[in-house]
Amino acid sequence: MAFELPPLPYAYDALEPVIDKETMTFHHDKHHKAYTDKLNEGVEKDGLQGKSIEDILANISSASPMVRNNGGGFWNHDFFWKTMAPEGGRGEMSAELKAAVDEFGGLDKLKEEFNTKGAGQFGSGWAWLIVDDAGKLKVTSTPNQDNPLMDVAADKGTPLLGNDVWEHAYYLTYRNDRPGYLKAWWDVVNWDMVSKRFASAAR
Ligand SMILES: [Fe+2]
Repeated sequence: MAFELPPLPYAYDALEPVIDKETMTFHHDKHHKAYTDKLNEGVEKDGLQGKSIEDILANISSASPMVRNNGGGFWNHDFFWKTMAPEGGRGEMSAELKAAVDEFGGLDKLKEEFNTKGAGQFGSGWAWLIVDDAGKLKVTSTPNQDNPLMDVAADKGTPLLGNDVWEHAYYLTYRNDRPGYLKAWWDVVNWDMVSKRFASAAR
């Protein structure tokens, strides 16, 4: 069974004004679709048919660059769409997540570290908040379409939040102002989803 492009879980204009409709349309329908198609091509070439994407990512060091780049792109974008929600659907942090964030140093500190990692990621990549092996929150970043689920990642763990800092994610509205995009992005975070991820990771 080939991997399929998951539908965007809300309308293309649902995240405006933080992310514009044209960016969302191209990002999902063109970029995410291309990662999905090329992942399927790579999976066939590498003989990885039937494996789950999580399994592929956990053993990515033995896969081809085609599967690494496009498998990451496939998983990261699905995770990214679900990390955000339209107004009214964003909820709030669970008491457990809030306690972990407080232990980290508070939400303002978390945002600052996350935005600094995202802005400092040279070229294209992702900023992440993960739960590491010790069960602690950690902010990290990865180049290209790598992610913390990959065995090659410097900081491995379960992602709670991820922001795409490729120019295709923000250029139409923010131009070269990546820090401005990172700052505005927090307004569309789906805290209900992040809380659910934290609950599963902490188990
Ligand atoms: Fe992207």
